[in-house]
Amino acid sequence: MAALVELLRVNKYFGTATEVLRNIDLCVQPHDTVAVLGPSGSGKSTLLNIIGGLLPPSSGDVLFDGEPLANRNAKQLAALRNREIGFIFQAHHLLPQLTALENVLVPTLVHPKDEQRRTAYDRASELLNEVGLSERLHHRPAQLSGGEQQRVAVIRALINQPRIVLADEPTGSLDERGTDSLGDLLCQLNERHSVALVTVTHSRRLAARMQRTLELREGSIAMADQNA
Ligand SMILES: Nc1ncnc2c1ncn2[C@@H]1O[C@H](COP(=O)(O)OP(=O)(O)O)[C@@H](O)[C@H]1O
Ligand SMILES: [Mg+2]
Repeated sequence: MAALVELLRVNKYFGTATEVLRNIDLCVQPHDTVAVLGPSGSGKSTLLNIIGGLLPPSSGDVLFDGEPLANRNAKQLAALRNREIGFIFQAHHLLPQLTALENVLVPTLVHPKDEQRRTAYDRASELLNEVGLSERLHHRPAQLSGGEQQRVAVIRALINQPRIVLADEPTGSLDERGTDSLGDLLCQLNERHSVALVTVTHSRRLAARMQRTLELREGSIAMADQNA
């Protein structure tokens, strides 16, 4: 099976001195779930941003569907990100003045896939129903709990039917129960919507639910475990 995303000998420096990632090789298959662990400052967010085409590597290649991201111009890269990659952040970054439903629809406003232009609204409502938010469609973020806000952010990441979702400490602001239910949700989405998932996390509970765990230390992958 062809890799969905592949990193080949990726290095990342900021300025001249700081070497954040060193010679990273990583292969994400279409149905993979991967947890990235590591101490603060070990380069987890940098790695995620490189996988998602938000940051270019200093050297090495990032391939999406076998094609180097470096072959794309800025516009093509933005279109790829919008269509094929969903992002979830620790702070949900929902727009406070929009309702849950409107927040979910934001990514459909640019570079829509044709079939989605017609169905985005229905799909957004359906997905929000699926995660138990049918009564919250027209609430603003401030009227939702932390866990509900994060579920809206997850659905927003999925609305364009991406092939991979990248999550940066998605349970960072949730308690243990919230972490478990977001873990359930992410696993369900991987199965039902056939989307690959790479999540940075400090939570061993969340990491244990992914098929693979990587640990970053001093810019290298120090440990890679196949979870049960
Ligand atoms: N845009 C940037 N400019 C300069 N240094 C950066 C930048 N982004 C991250 N860094 C540095 O790279 C290192 C790794 O950061 P990061 O990837 O955010 O780590 P983590 O997510 O594991 O906490 C840190 O030392 C951080 O200060
Ligand atoms: Mg980080």
